[in-house]
This record gives sequence, C-alpha cells and structure tokens, in this order.
Amino acid sequence: MKDRVSSGWRTAVLVCRKCSKKLDGGFGPKGDERLSKALRKHLALKKGRKAAAGIIEVNCLGICPKGAVTVVDGAHSREWLLVRPGADLDALAETLGLAYREPAGS
Ligand code: FES
Repeated sequence: MKDRVSSGWRTAVLVCRKCSKKLDGGFGPKGDERLSKALRKHLALKKGRKAAAGIIEVNCLGICPKGAVTVVDGAHSREWLLVRPGADLDALAETLGLAYREPAGS
C-alpha cells in the first residue's frame, strides 16, 4: 500500500458542519444551501481529490457562534472566520484564497 496519495488541492478549507446545520441553509443564490455546498458550486469545484481546493465539513470547532459558520483557512489557520448567512461568496473565496475557477473540461 502507498503511504502517500496526490491531490489537486491548492488549499483546504474546514467548515463547521454543526454551525451549518444550525443555520439550515443561508447561502447560495436562493439562500437555502449550506456554506460548503454553496461555495463548491459557486467555484464549480470538482469532487474529492480532483478538485482544485478542498472544502471539507468537519465536526464542531468549539467556537459555536450564534448566526454564523466557523471556517478555517488551512493556509492561514491562525485566524478563523465567522461567516454570516448571505455572505458574498466572491469576497469569501477571495479571502480564503479560492478565487479561481477550474478550467472547463479538465
Ligand atoms: S457549532 Fe460550529 S464551532 Fe461549534
């Protein structure tokens, strides 16, 4: 068995699953999507290791903000984000270093 596998991820973003569940949506064009799904769709990311970035839902991160989702930028983990519903996904992607789209057809 290999001890390493490659991925296309340039960065990894951790999104609190429990915060997302508590908000019951709040993101995306209709405001009915969870943050991780809305971000993946907004950036047209592929699934799994083939994506250009990993946006991963994780268990409670211990901050538990009211009316926001805790997000950790894996490349800048010393400061965590509390993202409110309806946040501008372009601005968020920029902040998280995700502001690029995967080339079509790759
Ligand atoms: S519920 Fe999200 S940080 Fe605890």
